Amino acid sequence: MWVPQYSGHSQPVYLMIADALERDINAGRLMAGERLPTLKELAEALKVTPGTIGRSYDEAAKRGLVIGEVGRGTFVLPSRVVAPPLAAAGNPATKTETGPIDLSIITPNDAGMSDWLRASIAELGQSPELGSILDYATDGGHAVHREAGALWVQRSLPEANGQQIVLTAGAQHGLLVAISSLSNSDDVILCEEYCYPGIISLAHSLGRRLQGVQVDEFGMVPASLRAMCVEHRPALLVVVTTHQNPTNSIMPEARRLEIVQIAREFDLYIIDDDIYGFLETRSVHKPISAYAPERSVYLTSLSKSLLPALRIGYLYAPPQMLSRLSSMVRSSVWMPSPLMAQLATNLIVSGQGARLVKVQQEEAAERQRMARQILGTYTIRSQANSFHLWLELPKPWTSDEFANLARANGVIVVSGSQFLAQRSGTTRGVRIALMGPGRAELGFALTKLASLLAAPEPRMFY
Ligand SMILES: Cc1ncc(COP(=O)(O)O)c(C=O)c1O
Repeated sequence: MWVPQYSGHSQPVYLMIADALERDINAGRLMAGERLPTLKELAEALKVTPGTIGRSYDEAAKRGLVIGEVGRGTFVLPSRVVAPPLAAAGNPATKTETGPIDLSIITPNDAGMSDWLRASIAELGQSPELGSILDYATDGGHAVHREAGALWVQRSLPEANGQQIVLTAGAQHGLLVAISSLSNSDDVILCEEYCYPGIISLAHSLGRRLQGVQVDEFGMVPASLRAMCVEHRPALLVVVTTHQNPTNSIMPEARRLEIVQIAREFDLYIIDDDIYGFLETRSVHKPISAYAPERSVYLTSLSKSLLPALRIGYLYAPPQMLSRLSSMVRSSVWMPSPLMAQLATNLIVSGQGARLVKVQQEEAAERQRMARQILGTYTIRSQANSFHLWLELPKPWTSDEFANLARANGVIVVSGSQFLAQRSGTTRGVRIALMGPGRAELGFALTKLASLLAAPEPRMFY
């Protein structure tokens, strides 16, 4: 529990408490979004009356340091944002001074990446390697770029080698390449019932029939997968086993093995989208493709681990699939930019990529802690190092209603309806991405979401 440090009698106690609060916020000892002790708790700790604490919290609110939420407590505000009042009927458009806080995109935190990039671009301009990568690349990418890709993939699949790596222009492109190489138009393809929307749009544009397999807190449910295989005879399965987007599950090993067994029984290809696998350590979770390498494409990119703008991803596939995959890369983009691939290679080979990933993991862990503290009374699916979380909404909220109200109150989250593979049904969850804004803004936005959830009559805001 936070207890202010103050001494002397130069001014009234309530002002000394408010000053101490301000000092602790400025020094980073109190974070935006943190809940302060109740009046009673702090009064007991300081041996003063609850009225004195109430006056000091009022003073802090006047200084724009905290916000009181009826029935929930008093919360620390970020310094750069003006606290919007709770939306009231007829006045829903309350926004922060700096515009809405965007928690809709899963992106890494900058964490030193742009400094590295600036220096690295300048270095690349001077380096002798530049001449050797300016031409068209051979199938699958330049050998040196594939070797770097193998090094990166070895973080999850220690057996990976450069000959079996195919470079892509990011994971979305990897999905396009793998799905179009391993299935035909009109084929049924399976994915989680709540899935990354890029899979839905790809299936539509490629003319594949997408079916969603039921999920629970551990990811895809094997019994549902089996039933779908019997009913639809699908060609392939796209699965995100680690930090599933959006429901943030991690599939335990036993279930990975069950899914592989079903894939073998029904002769399914597996596209193992492991874009968030870097957030976990290899010793804890072996990618699902490692259990069935003969029928799997392992897929990752540097977009989440390092920088979306690199647009570099890697496929790792068995030798018999490589020419199909490379030929689809050629048909779609000819080759991912070798200039970007060289920057990615420098990041990986120098060890800087691994160092930056560690920073990301630590930042994500801190943000998940904040989120659990602020939203912990609600049902959330949070993993220690994840970039996002899944909030199950209490009744009577639906996903669209809550996402709309949050937006009207200056916080953008993604409604569960956007992730539905079959695009039908009512959903009661939203995805909240944690890494985009600064920590202070994140704390403010999460506190705002919590206050909206706590409002007794959600629909009255419309
Ligand atoms: C599960 C999943 N796969 C693929 C992608 C696409 O990533 P990229 O930016 O590398 O194309 C995303 C992006 O959010 C994702 O969440």
